[in-house]
Amino acid sequence: MRIYVTRRIPEGALKLLADHDVEIYQGEIPIPRRELLEKVADASALISLLSDPIDAELMDAAPHLKVIANYAVGYDNVDIDAATKRGIVVTNTPDVLTDATAELAWALLFAAARRIGEAERFTRAGRFTGWGPQLMLGQGIRGKTLGVVGAGRIGTRFALGSRGFEMKVFYYDQERNETLEQGLGAKKVDISYLMYEADFVSIHLPLTQETKHLIDAHQLARMKPTAVLVNTARGPIVDEAALVAALRAGKLAAAGLDVYEREPEISKELIGIQNVVIAPHIGSATHQARGAMAELCAYAVLKVFAGEMTPNIVNREVWSKRR
Ligand code: DGY
Repeated sequence: MRIYVTRRIPEGALKLLADHDVEIYQGEIPIPRRELLEKVADASALISLLSDPIDAELMDAAPHLKVIANYAVGYDNVDIDAATKRGIVVTNTPDVLTDATAELAWALLFAAARRIGEAERFTRAGRFTGWGPQLMLGQGIRGKTLGVVGAGRIGTRFALGSRGFEMKVFYYDQERNETLEQGLGAKKVDISYLMYEADFVSIHLPLTQETKHLIDAHQLARMKPTAVLVNTARGPIVDEAALVAALRAGKLAAAGLDVYEREPEISKELIGIQNVVIAPHIGSATHQARGAMAELCAYAVLKVFAGEMTPNIVNREVWSKRR
């Protein structure tokens, strides 16, 4: 079976695939579209990245494709309907990156609240001339209100991290979350209320038609001028132009961002704003998480080749039809 991998992934996982014919794209930037279309022509499995658009055209160029193992928990880069119609199994990498991503959300929250990015730039520029009563004042965290937008695996883990800071927790989700309600006394609220009440808002939703621009100019206008917005989910959930305008107008105090509307492009306006901490989509970037994600992809491919079920299939209807 031929497996095409669109970027070098941790070695351990590749060893699991040693019995198969594996080809790996060696570039450091996303594989050019034309090359990917050629490479999938004889592939039975594709291990793709969240930056690879996997659409109907690509699937048509890959007549032998049985499985797309997306090296991410989010799979908005894959046209799931197109895969399902063609009988192609799609898998993702849930659970193994939950801690890493929740931890990065906290890191960004702290960094934005306490102006770590600005403080670092200031210090490195040799501008630190001595302790100052008004130097780099930020927002305190203990006892404040946390707004968790999306209470799935990562949102739940993130929210549970607030325990040590005695925070009041509101969450926005379609489903009730017993873990948060019983463990933290968290309350399920609508998005407008959450934006209005929270001192810290952290986004943990998947990107769908419904969540695109969920955080728009109207929602940003509801934030407190002292509030901080964190996004480690997907960039298009926030209207980036509206965020720039809101930050410039002082509608919120700061933002901590790991994801952007047109990745890897980041608007120059956003980069020019001092009170935004910007990271290069590194939510899952720990040695542990990335290694485990690669292994999940490899196991998913092997399971599908063996005709066995794997729990991380995102289009289960394909599986049911096969049985
Ligand atoms: C994912 O897996 O979807 C994350 O965005 C990776 O950081």
